[in-house]
Amino acid sequence: MPRFITLEGIDGCGKSTQAKLLAEDLERAGYDVLLLREPGGVTISEKIRELLLDPAHAAMGDTCELLLYEAARAQLVHEVVAPALAQGRIVVCDRFYDSTTAYQGYANGMDLGAVQRANALAVGACHPDLTLVFDIDPAKAAARAAARDRAQDRMEAKGLAYQERVAAGFRAIAATESERVRLVDAGRGIDAIHADVRALVLGQQLDTEGVFGRDLDVEGA
Ligand code: TMP
Repeated sequence: MPRFITLEGIDGCGKSTQAKLLAEDLERAGYDVLLLREPGGVTISEKIRELLLDPAHAAMGDTCELLLYEAARAQLVHEVVAPALAQGRIVVCDRFYDSTTAYQGYANGMDLGAVQRANALAVGACHPDLTLVFDIDPAKAAARAAARDRAQDRMEAKGLAYQERVAAGFRAIAATESERVRLVDAGRGIDAIHADVRALVLGQQLDTEGVFGRDLDVEGA
């Protein structure tokens, strides 16, 4: 059973909805679950999030952007992720360091080795056991994001070509780290995606221990 699970994908891919559904599944199955988001999750990191996403900060350079994401992450890991994992809790995080590799590395074009070193510095020993990348056509995701009842943030304002580079980055990460990172077809309805997520996270447990079969109606189990 993975203990540290991260959900990734471009803006508008639907991962936040799936993160909540997954956390509920795990709680119903009796696990002590912590659901977090990045950047954010604790006071200092939420403040850094405001700096990062404020559309007024159009002048922000790539290096500043990278280091602010890493600073937010380092604080989240320090304050809650590392202690929660040490206590045996399950951590579900809506984005983590693969977002930095995809956005700041692949899409911004920063040196991938430097980005990976920055990721490593921020997280120490806290690496995800399982990462789900929600793969969707960027035009479809943009239409979903546009339907939201709020203005675009600084990252969303970078446009469709940018999101296409991010999507390609996530696919490259999934191809490179196929053991940890799984692609989920996110161009479908919520229920179909949720069924895949459950199978990927809980399927192994069902096969080996049969714990979830008692409480949950897991499709395809
Ligand atoms: P969210 O909208 O999924 O909460 O994420 C906030 C934005 O920050 C989103 O556009 C993705 C971006 N982001 C990065 O560019 N790098 C990162 O490391 C993270 C965690 C998010």
